[in-house]
Amino acid sequence: MTQSQSASSTKPERIVVTGGAGFVGSRLVARLLDDGHHVVVLDDLFTGRKDNLPLGHARLEFVLGSVTDFALVKDVLRGAAIVFHEAARNIIVSTKDPRQDYEVNIGGTLNVLLAARETPGLRRTVYASSASVYGNPRYLPINEDDATNMLSPYSVSKYAGESYCKAFYESYGLSSSSVRYSNVYGPGQRADNPYCGVIAKFFEAAMAGEAPRIHGDGEQTRDYTYIDDVVEATILAGMLPKADGQVYNVGTGRETTVNQLARTIIAVTGASMEPQWVDRRDIDNIRRRVVNIEKLRRELRWVPRVTVENGLRRTYEWMTSAKTAGP
Ligand SMILES: NC(=O)c1ccc[n+]([C@@H]2O[C@H](COP(=O)([O-])OP(=O)(O)OC[C@H]3O[C@@H](n4cnc5c(N)ncnc54)[C@H](O)[C@@H]3O)[C@@H](O)[C@H]2O)c1
Repeated sequence: MTQSQSASSTKPERIVVTGGAGFVGSRLVARLLDDGHHVVVLDDLFTGRKDNLPLGHARLEFVLGSVTDFALVKDVLRGAAIVFHEAARNIIVSTKDPRQDYEVNIGGTLNVLLAARETPGLRRTVYASSASVYGNPRYLPINEDDATNMLSPYSVSKYAGESYCKAFYESYGLSSSSVRYSNVYGPGQRADNPYCGVIAKFFEAAMAGEAPRIHGDGEQTRDYTYIDDVVEATILAGMLPKADGQVYNVGTGRETTVNQLARTIIAVTGASMEPQWVDRRDIDNIRRRVVNIEKLRRELRWVPRVTVENGLRRTYEWMTSAKTAGP
């Protein structure tokens, strides 16, 4: 059985995606609809957009509202088999306003778990966590059980959500699984999404014939993960019994420097300039990051299928077709 058959072959069910109008959420919704499920999206449209969703689809329900509203979350979860909890304030919002981050990312997650506990028939809560919980790691690639080191209010709140999932699993037997995403990029990404913003900005520059501007020396690294690989891993974490109570890194296991990223983007767009280094001082408090993906590979038989080069090519195709289709 191939990987996607195993994740897609379950019978149609009612599935909730919080934050389903966002970048990752909307791609997850599209995949769940393709697999025949009935999908309910709960989103307050803070960063998400309705036009990310196929509104009008017979098996899609959109509920405008916040995960901070417990009664609403409970209502939305009624009859659901799985909830994918993607809703969150991002790192930029969180750094500006840690209280809002606390209320949404921690309070909202607590609401989802409390509501899940009161929802008969709900099999699994999947929590979208973040590789930012590792901070500046001592060893690479980072394993799931390596030390965490929260360097931002955002990583505190993402880790708190994960910890609540674990605590609800241990204390109440609530089935959950956490997926620690690492810099997701791909079709649907926006320049104001902090995790893939650098990719969107480099593309915009190269496509306008301008040199991508690199801050720092460009040797800082991240593990850039293509969106469809992330969606597949998330679905497996929701569907497979083995994922119960587990935490998984979702990445590629490969480190890419910002310099490599800029050069690949220039090549993919067919441009022929050199990147521009605007400020060679090291501005990044996290120098290197790459995650070990063996656990996901071994336990859920997931492998990332899209290399950074291919992912950037697909992203470029989407960007050029979105530009042609746009107003
Ligand atoms: N994109 C990445 O690289 C990355 C990396 C690590 C973790 N994550 C996590 O993955 C999830 C999805 O991230 P994304 O990149 O798609 O971000 P996004 O901002 O595009 O999506 C988040 C969605 O949540 C919605 N939302 C925010 N607050 C809400 C609230 N109070 N109630 C209901 N909906 C709310 C937003 O409107 C948006 O649609 C988030 O939990 C994020 O922390 C993403």
